[in-house]
Amino acid sequence: MKVGVLASGTGTNLQAILDRVHGREGVDVVAVASDQPSAKALKRARSAGVPTAVFAQNEYAARADRDRAMAEWLAERGVELVVLAGYMRLLSPEFLERFPQRVINVHPALLPAFPGLDAVDQALAYGVKVFGATIHFVDEGVDSGAIIFQRGVELADATSADEVMAAIRPIEHELLCRAILAISRGAVSGDPDHPRRVVVRDRA
Ligand code: GAR
Repeated sequence: MKVGVLASGTGTNLQAILDRVHGREGVDVVAVASDQPSAKALKRARSAGVPTAVFAQNEYAARADRDRAMAEWLAERGVELVVLAGYMRLLSPEFLERFPQRVINVHPALLPAFPGLDAVDQALAYGVKVFGATIHFVDEGVDSGAIIFQRGVELADATSADEVMAAIRPIEHELLCRAILAISRGAVSGDPDHPRRVVVRDRA
C-alpha cells in the first residue's frame, strides 16, 4: 500500500511511520507534502529518501485550488492512503472525494472532546483528568470522522501542554502506525449495523 503523509510541523508522527512502518508488510511512504515550507517533517522525509512537496496557501487563489494540486501530486505517486500527521488545515470536500475512506488523522485528544486546533490546551483549560489520542477517518467535519483507535492516559495533576504531549506522543505514534498497518492488511472496515463504528481485526 502506497502512503502519502501530510504534515505541517515537527513530524514526530511522520518519523514513527518512517521508522516502524515504511518498507514493512508492503507499506511504503511514497510522498510527503506540507503547507509549511519550513516544516521539519520535510527534512525527515528527505533524509529517508521520500519525495516531498510544498503546497503553501499563498501560492493559490483558493483552498480548493491548492488541495486539487496536492491531490494531483499524491495521485501521480500512486498514493492509496493519505495520513494527516500533524496537518493543521482542513481538507476540501473535493480532496476527500479523491481518496474516499482513505484519509486518516491523528488528534491529541479523546474525540469527540476537544476537536480542532489546540486540543491539549482546550483539555487543560477544561480541567480534565484523562487526556489521550485518537486515530480517525477524516470526513468533511472538524475531527468528526469515524474512530479507528483511541487511548486515554490519566494525568490528574497536569498543568502544561508540554507535560501532556510528552505522555500522549508515544501513544499517537503507536496507534497511528498500528492503524496504517491494519488498513493495509484490510483489517479495518465499517460496521453494517452502526454508521460511525469501525471494526478492526487487529493482530497487535
Ligand atoms: C500531534 O500531536 C497531532 O496529534 C497534532 O499535531 C501534532 C503533530 O506532531 N494534530 C492536530 O492537532 C490536528 N488537529 P508531530 O508534528 O510531531 O507529528
